[in-house]
Amino acid sequence: MSLRRSLGLTCTILSAAFLMGAADGSWLHRVSTADHARSSPLLATSESRGKAAAGGAQVFHNECAKCHGDDGGGLHNRPSVISDRVNNASDGDLFWLMNNGVPWRGMPPWISLPPGERWQLVAYLRALNAADAGPSPLSAAASVPRSTPSSQGVSR
Ligand code: HEC
Repeated sequence: MSLRRSLGLTCTILSAAFLMGAADGSWLHRVSTADHARSSPLLATSESRGKAAAGGAQVFHNECAKCHGDDGGGLHNRPSVISDRVNNASDGDLFWLMNNGVPWRGMPPWISLPPGERWQLVAYLRALNAADAGPSPLSAAASVPRSTPSSQGVSR
């Protein structure tokens, strides 16, 4: 993709995102019952949740932080990924989101990432939400900059 085209694409995505309000969770209604019930293959193997989350933190930093912030707290009009909705979503819901995105609302699909990395992102989203809810045993979550207590509970 030429620089010009990618700049144009970036501008389109940015302006689309700025025109939108906060995420409304409409993507959740598109997840089939079978996808909702899927569980992470990483947890069936020797890969622990903490190790998976640590891998996901790296992918998040590379691919997601530009829109959701390095701490996942949201940037500009892009929503926080730390919320009741994300916390209450199943692993299968979040994996579906990684595969499909919400392109009509400015969230790209991540199907081009290897499946292992998409499941790692799911584990990391869990860790971020768990860290926000209280002290977490996950080392990956502990290395994530935490929001200050005073900012917690505000518009989430
Ligand atoms: C180009 C900007 C952009 C990038 C890059 C991006 N997102 Fe998003 N993301 C969005 C937008 C915009 C939404 C809101 C979609 C909506 O309104 O439902 C969103 C929604 C989400 C949600 C659901 C939030 C909710 O409350 O429903 C999660 C989880 C999420 N993104 C995770 C990620 C992850 C993980 C990555 C990296 C693999 C990523 N995003 C990369 C723009 C982006």
